[in-house]
Amino acid sequence: MDSRLEKVIDLVRGTYDSNGDPSHDFAHILRVLNTCKSIGLKSGADLTILLPAALLHDVINVPKNHPDRLRASEMAAQEAAGILKSVGYSDDEIKKISVVIHEHSYSLGKTPSCLESAIMQDADRLDALGAVGIMRAVTCAAKMGTPRYYHPTEMIASTRALDDRTYAIDHFFVKLFKLVEKMNTEEGRLEAKRRGEFMNQFLTQLKGEVSV
Ligand code: ADP
Ligand code: NI
Repeated sequence: MDSRLEKVIDLVRGTYDSNGDPSHDFAHILRVLNTCKSIGLKSGADLTILLPAALLHDVINVPKNHPDRLRASEMAAQEAAGILKSVGYSDDEIKKISVVIHEHSYSLGKTPSCLESAIMQDADRLDALGAVGIMRAVTCAAKMGTPRYYHPTEMIASTRALDDRTYAIDHFFVKLFKLVEKMNTEEGRLEAKRRGEFMNQFLTQLKGEVSV
């Protein structure tokens, strides 16, 4: 591994692990890093740009209901620039890595301007799907004060409006299943489809257990 990457890991691991948010801890960063590596190698991306971006993409953690939430990825890009400079990245590399970090945010809705950015978006969105995605959604819901896992009489909304601030499961339909259709890369699309299918199996099991 590039020794500069190892230095970045040493500098940020503690920041992630002490933010009190299991959905954005260092394990999230490692999963996103591995996904970026795997898609990046298959598609010929520049890993010297993509991997540091993966390590630093959430280095500033802004709570969901905070007014600066939409600026989080821009703030992370700024913070990242200082860290990257301190371990020897060039100004040109830092500029490219900052763009990838800035564009990654789903809520910001940026169209990726390069392959590395497209992969970074896919990798971060894949982590919101599948078994990990279910754990993250439930944890986030609890943290946001969402009072119920599911609607008491209509778990899967068909006649009622979706409300993911009241029912955690509704977030699957408000956002998560939509991510499956929004992947940029072919590898991302295939994996997102597999993870989406697993989430559907989970819902079938849940419905069976609670008879709603
Ligand atoms: P981004 O940081 O790219 O804007 P989010 O913060 O929306 O993306 O997503 C990060 C995680 O938060 C995801 O795993 C997602 O499932 C979870 N999350 C966001 N909003 C909710 C919600 N209302 N209920 C449950 N989970 C949520
Ligand atoms: Ni992330």
